[in-house]
Amino acid sequence: MIFKKNILCIGAGYVGGPTMAMIAYKCPQHRVTVVDINPSRIAEWNSDDLPIYEPGLDEIVRATRGKNLFFSTDIEGGIRDNDIIFVSVNTPTKTFGAGAGMAADLQYWEKTARQILQYSQSSKIVVEKSTLPVKTALAMEKILNYTKSSVSFDILSNPEFLAEGSAINDLDNPDRILIGCRETESGYAARETLVEIYANWVPREKIITSNIWSSELSKIVSNAFLAQRISSINAISALCEKTDADITEVSRAVGMDSRIGSKYLSASVGFGGSCFKKDILNLVYLCQHYGLHEVADYWENVVRINQYQQERFILNMLTTMFNTLAGKKICLFGFAFKANTSDTRESPAIYITKRLLEEKAEIVITDPKALKNAKADLAGVEGKVSFVEDPYKAVEGCHAIAVLTEWDVYRNLDFQKIFSTMTKPASIFDGRNIIDHKRCFDIGFNVYPTGKPALTHT
Ligand code: UDX
Ligand code: UDX
Repeated sequence: MIFKKNILCIGAGYVGGPTMAMIAYKCPQHRVTVVDINPSRIAEWNSDDLPIYEPGLDEIVRATRGKNLFFSTDIEGGIRDNDIIFVSVNTPTKTFGAGAGMAADLQYWEKTARQILQYSQSSKIVVEKSTLPVKTALAMEKILNYTKSSVSFDILSNPEFLAEGSAINDLDNPDRILIGCRETESGYAARETLVEIYANWVPREKIITSNIWSSELSKIVSNAFLAQRISSINAISALCEKTDADITEVSRAVGMDSRIGSKYLSASVGFGGSCFKKDILNLVYLCQHYGLHEVADYWENVVRINQYQQERFILNMLTTMFNTLAGKKICLFGFAFKANTSDTRESPAIYITKRLLEEKAEIVITDPKALKNAKADLAGVEGKVSFVEDPYKAVEGCHAIAVLTEWDVYRNLDFQKIFSTMTKPASIFDGRNIIDHKRCFDIGFNVYPTGKPALTHT
């Protein structure tokens, strides 16, 4: 079959994989190839056991793979044979040198730009999918257009707004698609090419265009705003616990103001995930770089409150369990950073486990999808940790349950049965407010919700 357009994505991760699968699914007239330096990841994409768990992903991969969706390790051939190249390699926070702990580490990004230059034999549209600091496209342009040849490159910014766990729905029905370009004739033409691809399924009014710098910045600002709402509500949850106000009631009352809106106002044990912290720190670093110290401090506090919320959770466990956790068994309900994903990157559960181990507690972790990642995250960590898939088995003999992920399965467990196998007094620390607190209290548990009065028998 002759395809109309040949599209490549470099980076077969959480973003690249599902996004390309959706493009292939919606555009049977185009061929989509996803390449990655990691051969085992590509092998998994080509198997029945995909490397990431995402509801609905299996179906669209099954419908397209081998027809117009291909996964390969041949980066050189991929660059040579495709006209539109999405780049979705990871841009983690730098761990060394200037900006360590804050700035984005662009080494994979730059290496990819150099590969594109090296292997291109015809002109290409290069699309930034990874979240990047503003002005990254400028560096990319400088690398790609360094040697003057007949091969030219147009760079677009097309940030991804999908959230894990709902990625397929977010890709299918996005709030908006944002495409930024250089304000030149060829920049506009490249942008139109990408608009046409999305227009196969996204209504035109939802495809918005901007200059390239606005597009790059909008991605990190969107994430910063979402995270800021969570830190705002979490900060207020601490006040609720001191004043007998109830965070769910406050959140509902505040969120019903249509100017504020109700989403991202659920108090929690803290936000996790690969993006929020990284992107805010990126924003902070950018502001510092431009001498905007007040702005940098403002945003940095969003991350500080998130850390505070996790620490508060630990201290609450410690003080309510007679100021010692040594030798006590604590069961963590959930290790993923949110429900419906196996992803544990930056999950509050990682920090909480390590802190509890420092207190010499014994940890039992249960999670319907994330135990494999949990084991990898905790490899080499000292202390007693076990991993048990069945929550009923996991809680046996435990002194406390800490609910860290809002998996539906934890809402409807038989807490009477659970209570009967635990060591007494048995406590539940609900870091997600998903359990029926009153019912568990009536069964006999001491219940410590987030941002609500505790229900205790002592
Ligand atoms: C990544 C970025 O982290 C994020 O900032 C951006 O918004 C989207 O892309 P994600 O897809 O979640 O997010 O990352 P990850 O799952 O780590 O996937 C990146 C993939 O790129 C990995 O499979 C890695 O092997 C691959 N990669 C990395 C390359 O193919 N080449 C490289 O040089 C580096
Ligand atoms: C986020 C953005 O939502 C998405 O647009 C962007 O492309 C990538 O980053 P993601 O990290 O996958 O997506 O998940 P998200 O649903 O935003 O949740 C992030 C964290 O915030 C999770 O740990 C979640 O549990 C937490 N959260 C979310 C809360 O604590 N309270 C809320 O009200 C909402």
